[in-house]
Amino acid sequence: MKMKIKIITTVAGFIIAFSSVVFMNGCAVPASIANKTGAQLWAENCNRCHNAPDPHNFSDDQWDAAIEHMHQKAILTDTEAKKILAFMKSAD
Ligand code: HEC
Repeated sequence: MKMKIKIITTVAGFIIAFSSVVFMNGCAVPASIANKTGAQLWAENCNRCHNAPDPHNFSDDQWDAAIEHMHQKAILTDTEAKKILAFMKSAD
């Protein structure tokens, strides 16, 4: 009886360890984000709490500060914040 439990926990341990390698690859950017442009991420995220600000409204330096701030407020991933920042700066 005890032996059986040990086998089950060992097998379960392997499954958990294996699936964590497959599903929780922390460094990989999920495809859903990787495929999105900065413009899409801006449209989807920046109007959740206030009107999405026009990229023309601020200078590049001001966007550095604002996106740094919204990165935390909007709980964006690093990749999302970088893409949105690039989009904001791409406007003249
Ligand atoms: C979770 C809600 C939330 C989301 C999502 C959000 N903001 Fe904000 N934002 C705020 C709040 C609240 C303020 C008011 C200022 C503060 O918090 O200090 C603000 C202020 C701002 C300001 C004014 C300057 C500043 O830094 O305070 C800018 C510019 C701005 N947001 C841009 C953005 C952009 C771009 C996005 C998309 C990446 C975004 N916000 C997404 C909540 C949000």
